[in-house]
Amino acid sequence: MNRNASKLLATLLASIAAAGSALAAYPERPVTMIVPFAAGGPTDQVARIVGEHMSKTLGQTIVIENVTGAGGTTGITRGAQAAADGYTIMMGHMGTHGAAPALYPTLKYDPAKDFSPIGLAAGTPIVIVAKKDFAAKDLKEFVAKMKADGPKLNEGNAGVGSVSHTTCTLLTSQLSVKTARVTYKGTGPMINDLIGGQIDFGCDQIVSVAEQIKAGTIKAYAIATPERSPALPDLPTTKEAGLPDYQVSAWNAMFAPKGTPADVAAKLNDALVKALDDEGTRKRLLNLGAVIPDKAGRSPAALQKLVESEVARWTPVLKAAGISAAVNPAAATSGTPPPAAGAPAAAPAAPAPAAPAK
Ligand code: MLT
Repeated sequence: MNRNASKLLATLLASIAAAGSALAAYPERPVTMIVPFAAGGPTDQVARIVGEHMSKTLGQTIVIENVTGAGGTTGITRGAQAAADGYTIMMGHMGTHGAAPALYPTLKYDPAKDFSPIGLAAGTPIVIVAKKDFAAKDLKEFVAKMKADGPKLNEGNAGVGSVSHTTCTLLTSQLSVKTARVTYKGTGPMINDLIGGQIDFGCDQIVSVAEQIKAGTIKAYAIATPERSPALPDLPTTKEAGLPDYQVSAWNAMFAPKGTPADVAAKLNDALVKALDDEGTRKRLLNLGAVIPDKAGRSPAALQKLVESEVARWTPVLKAAGISAAVNPAAATSGTPPPAAGAPAAAPAAPAPAAPAK
């Protein structure tokens, strides 16, 4: 080997070694995980439970930052625009990465193109809930009350395009009723108001309501999945309770900004997978009713596919429902008077549940 060739080889080897040690070093400082809703809601709870174990694997704290507004799109926009270095990641969901494009004409991100998907964290079935003294003893009476008094009933949600908003829109569409919508920064504060009786009902992810239902501080009418949840075995399914077409599940998943180095994304996915395999973490998620994705469902490729199919699934449903953030901007202020209902024009077909395999 001549002198120039050996110099070139040495430079090449040195840069490979440097790149290797930089990657091996990640993360060298705390990682911020943006939660696009208020503390205490399902997105926040899943992020904190999974993030706690991921911190152990990564050897660095995952700091949760709640960046709220516009049905979760404010926080996700911030995350999408962050440096793609693995130090800012996000917990998105069916709303931010499935429903939002149909509802926000000026959305600043494309859920399928502007992220490095890390992995699915949890499936979250939807439960129809009401304040504890709501005058309906079962789902049939609840439906009758909705049909009789819809516009007088305060429905809580976490902003246009959030899971609670999207799934309650599906419900009111199917029942052909309008309700008075009250927008919150997340379903954590919304459930507080449901407990306090300031609002009448909502559609929320099981993770946010399982403990309250068990404690009797709120009432639940049905879970919108084909099977009952082991976390709430006494709660009938919508099919059992007389509303078989109302079938809907949501999910939470982790994303990094597009362009995150493959090895960094792989480390994050590895930490997520380890969290979902950890007995203590699983127990906490299962107690809240979350569905833990199987191994195949945890890969970045599976998440990419899920996002694409969710955008395709929700876009026609929401367009048919005739709602848009352009006419009903998410003020996202707890306790604000109900904004315009954004009433659906026609009842869209119920989408298939998106719950990942157990
Ligand atoms: C939603 O309705 O999108 C979520 O429940 C919001 C949240 O996680 O607080």
